[in-house]
Amino acid sequence: MSKNYDDLIKVVNGIGIVPVIVLNDPAKAVPLAKALIAGGIPCIEVTFRTAAAEASIKAINAEVPEMLLGAGTVITIEQAEKAIAAGAKFIVSPGLDENIVKWCQERDVPVFPGVCTASEVQKAVSLGLNILKFFPAEASGGVNMIKNLCGPFPQVKFMTTGGISPANLAEYAACPFVTAVGGSWMAKADLIEKEDWATITAMCREAVCAMNGFQFIHFGINTPSAEDASKAADCLSIFGMQKKVGNSSTFMNAEIEVMHSMFKGECGHIGFKCYNVERSINYLSNYGFTVDEETVKTDAKGKIKVAYLKQQVAGFAIHLVKA
Ligand code: 3PG
Repeated sequence: MSKNYDDLIKVVNGIGIVPVIVLNDPAKAVPLAKALIAGGIPCIEVTFRTAAAEASIKAINAEVPEMLLGAGTVITIEQAEKAIAAGAKFIVSPGLDENIVKWCQERDVPVFPGVCTASEVQKAVSLGLNILKFFPAEASGGVNMIKNLCGPFPQVKFMTTGGISPANLAEYAACPFVTAVGGSWMAKADLIEKEDWATITAMCREAVCAMNGFQFIHFGINTPSAEDASKAADCLSIFGMQKKVGNSSTFMNAEIEVMHSMFKGECGHIGFKCYNVERSINYLSNYGFTVDEETVKTDAKGKIKVAYLKQQVAGFAIHLVKA
């Protein structure tokens, strides 16, 4: 895989959501792109299902350069040529066409062909690809099918599209074999037609939160020493909480962590779970949060298990824990 491909995958993975868009009018492309970005999704796949695709890609490329811009439903080399000339940075196809894949690879253009069977995955792998579009996701067995496919093909990850909505988004978001989730639910044709940018932005925000899967897990309370922590814990046990003493902290049930030192945060910390700490850090960077690198702990695969953020909220540090 080329550096360009790897870099793009990192960005796509960090965003986690790829809106699949059908535009009938190129004049709507730029306001739509801005609405997606305002909702926390700086990525778009403009589909070649309409004559407006090429001009829409050109307009977004010129006016919204911060957008990660891709072309979708590319089923001919001619469309791929037009898409790239117009400024698309990646190509997505509903199926696996060796000629399109090779055309893209020769030009170092990241390409994501659609697959939904083991034979197609095998073919794509033989072409040197390991990030594939899983389409149509729901109709092909959804997350269960993905897990089955990743048995024989552990090197493969999927961008899943087709039938994904707020109702089933979390299942895909929690699946470790899913690089990103795509779909049209947050920017349906009627909303674009009505220029209802506010609703599109709100649906993007909701999707981004669901994709992160944030869930409050505990409050951390700082105390100066293990002795102070023990006193605090004993007081809390009056309220019926179960004490579990550890090396650096004492947990009271799962919700309160009494620290044995004045640890991170002026007052203490708040712990949140999320599906993918790297992705959530990327998302939170939009709001000015950065990682406190010295707190990062990784698993055997190098994925972040725990990380504190540098910025505090009302005197509380925040840490993210991989669900
Ligand atoms: C695609 O091309 O990826 C799909 O058409 C998007 O699927 P959806 O409209 O069901 O989200």
